[in-house]
Amino acid sequence: MTRPYLLAATDSEPVKRFYDVVVIGSGIAGLTAAVGAARKWKVALISKSVLRDTTTFLAQGGIAAALSDKDSPDLHFQDTIRAGDGLCKEEAVRILVNEGPARVRELMEICPRFDRAGGDLVLASEGAHSVPRIAHAGGDATGSEVASALTKAMQQGSRVQVLEHEFVVDLLTNGGRCIGAVSLNLKTGAFTLNYAMATVLATGGCGQVYSLTTNPVVATGDGMSMAFRAGAAIGDMEFVQFHPTGLYTDESPVFLITEALRGEGAYLLNHAGERFMVGVHPQAELGPRDVVVGEMVRQMESSGQEYLFLDATHLDCDTLKERFPTVFDNLLKRNYNICHDRIPVAPVCHYMMGGVVSDIWGRTTLPGLYASGEVANTGVHGANRLASNSLLEGLVFSDRIVRDLDSYIGGAGEEVRRLNIELPGPSREGNRPEEVRDLRKRLQKLMTVSVGTVRDEKGLTAAVQELGDLLNSLKAPRADLEEYELYNLLTVATHIAKAGFLRQESRGAHLRRDYTATDDIKWRRHINFRLKNGEEDV
Ligand code: SIN
Repeated sequence: MTRPYLLAATDSEPVKRFYDVVVIGSGIAGLTAAVGAARKWKVALISKSVLRDTTTFLAQGGIAAALSDKDSPDLHFQDTIRAGDGLCKEEAVRILVNEGPARVRELMEICPRFDRAGGDLVLASEGAHSVPRIAHAGGDATGSEVASALTKAMQQGSRVQVLEHEFVVDLLTNGGRCIGAVSLNLKTGAFTLNYAMATVLATGGCGQVYSLTTNPVVATGDGMSMAFRAGAAIGDMEFVQFHPTGLYTDESPVFLITEALRGEGAYLLNHAGERFMVGVHPQAELGPRDVVVGEMVRQMESSGQEYLFLDATHLDCDTLKERFPTVFDNLLKRNYNICHDRIPVAPVCHYMMGGVVSDIWGRTTLPGLYASGEVANTGVHGANRLASNSLLEGLVFSDRIVRDLDSYIGGAGEEVRRLNIELPGPSREGNRPEEVRDLRKRLQKLMTVSVGTVRDEKGLTAAVQELGDLLNSLKAPRADLEEYELYNLLTVATHIAKAGFLRQESRGAHLRRDYTATDDIKWRRHINFRLKNGEEDV
């Protein structure tokens, strides 16, 4: 049974704040929405941590868009559709590739550090792109450059109220509409009801459901879970992208080695020193991520090894240092010199293709609630995202949300301000902190072993059962971040496992040992979940 509200109210009356638009999350999608909406509306941007603590900030590769005269939106469309393995929503992809170049050029006006040579943009190659298409900034520091520029733009405007260390526990709903969000101030423990005509979810992904992920520790699926509890549909949850080249360590988050390094010519090698991708895909190491990961898993299983190698030792060392300063320095700190050493790598959880179902204007199935970026499921990624399409998605769809707000807010009227929300009573039970931490680890291990890169019916059945038991064994949470996050992680993990169990085929990032073929007749469709009257509808 899903609890409609996780909220544990305190004895004191929550504070009330009123906005036109509340944006939750501070990655590229949230910042773009906040900056755009603030031109006209009173906006709050809420972050559970500090603004820079996002997956966007860590992004290395760059932003894909048809920006050169050797490229076209049509070519970008074809590459995206091919990578998505039959499940992309074509209308959304058309919008992404057609509107993308203009959005990226606008971004370049406020973020001047995109890499150029002689005035021309330098475009990189990445997996499954048919031409070099990836614009990057600061070499391999695109995410931090872009996030810093957007943050500056937001801070220069006076209309966005930025609320850091404020955890959104639940969306507020009334009469089948989202009317804001309730948040917990992580420093003072006070709850606030943030009323809004429109709410934009931009909370990012859920990589923390796995033991090893490139996502920051804040990526706990909060947006997907709260949207589901509030009655919005979530979909395509079985499609979790594993990135081929996470540095093989037990660090969390795992340090990512950008795919652009393979675009520059680095090889993937097995323990016999062979380039195992040659002959597996015409683009070899630059095949789509799902294909590369599938072969890596086969190589690791047949050799009994837990990692393979990324080898850039044949490339020019000065170029590597200049083009990939983040990777170079971070590896050196860990005693690897990319110019001389083969780097141990393994597939690692990186990106959620699924999420809160949203249309071409970012509207979810719950009126008043929009979603953009990794939390959203616009359908542009299908079953496997094309590299560097994620920052682009956040830019393009947040811009569309801003444009749609005019008509939505105009119709929403003032009554939102007058609503009285009944919050649940205070919970004094809670779960012990050690227990919560142990359960988080147990969940991550279970997902890694049974719902990881390759799945089967036995593992998925056991996972669904165990996740359900874990959820039921928990007491109602107190006003505690770790407890709320555990609930959210369990909610997301359960839906990844359930959808993985239902989809009896292999497609994109969803690989089944027991159903190795793609079955277009039965499965060229999406699996969505939605709560109706407290019960789950699939
Ligand atoms: C990378 O730099 O390899 C990551 C880019 C992406 O996930 O799109």
